[in-house]
Amino acid sequence: MPTDTDSAAFWEQHYARLDGAWGTHPNPVVAEAVTALAPEARGASGAPGTALDLGCGHGGDALWLAARGWDVTAVDVAPTALDRVAERARAAGVADRVHPVAHDLARTFPAGTFDLVGAAYFHTPLDIPRDAVLRRAAGAVAPHGLLLIVEHASFAPWSWRSEDEVRFPTPDETLASLRLGDGWRVERCDAPQRTATGPQGQTATVTDNVIALRRNT
Ligand SMILES: C[S@@+](CC[C@H](N)C(=O)[O-])C[C@H]1O[C@@H](n2cnc3c(N)ncnc32)[C@H](O)[C@@H]1O
Repeated sequence: MPTDTDSAAFWEQHYARLDGAWGTHPNPVVAEAVTALAPEARGASGAPGTALDLGCGHGGDALWLAARGWDVTAVDVAPTALDRVAERARAAGVADRVHPVAHDLARTFPAGTFDLVGAAYFHTPLDIPRDAVLRRAAGAVAPHGLLLIVEHASFAPWSWRSEDEVRFPTPDETLASLRLGDGWRVERCDAPQRTATGPQGQTATVTDNVIALRRNT
C-alpha cells in the first residue's frame, strides 16, 4: 500500500524516536469495553472473530486481542511501529493471529469486514479526513460486529500535543459524524475519566470519549 505520504513521514519519525516499550500494553478503556461488549473472540458464525485495529501503533491492543483469540489485522502508517508489532507478536507466540499491514488510511483502507473494528486514539496533527476514515471503519464492521472508537477528550500534561491546538468533540458529535443509518445499536456513547500514567511515572486525570456501536444487520 502506498505509504510515502506526509503521514508516513511524520509518524515514522515519531516511532523511530520513541522508546519501543511505549504503547505495548492494551489501552485500559479498550480492554474494558471489549471485555464488556465482545467478551468472546467469536464471529457471528461462531468461528474465531476477526478484528481490525486502526492506527495500532506499537500494538498494545492488537496483541491483547490476539492473546484472547481474535485474528487481528493491525494497521498503521509507520513501518517501524508495524515491525515492532510483528516482533512482539512472534515473541508472544501469536504471530499467526496478528497481521500488521501498512496503510495511510487517508488514502487506502483494508478490504473486507471484521467482527470488531477499533480505532483507539486515532489522532494525528496532520490534516487528514479523520471523519471519513471513521465512516469507512463503520463500513468495515460485519453484521452483529462492534465498532469501538476511543478518543481523547482531554490531553495529559505530558502529551506531545497541547490542548490549545484542538477542540475536542463530544461523544455525541463523533457519533453524529459517522452518519450511520438504521441498523446500529448504541452500546456506549460517553466520556469517562481515568487516571493516566506518563513516561516518568507521573499521573493525571484524563477524559476519553467512548463510542461503541453494534451493527444489527
Ligand atoms: C496517538 S497514536 C495511537 C496509537 C495506538 N492506537 C494507541 O492507542 O497507543 C495514533 C496512531 O495512528 C497512526 N496514524 C496516524 N495517521 C495515520 C494514517 N493516516 N494512516 C494510518 N495510521 C495513522 C499513527 O502512526 C499512530 O500509531
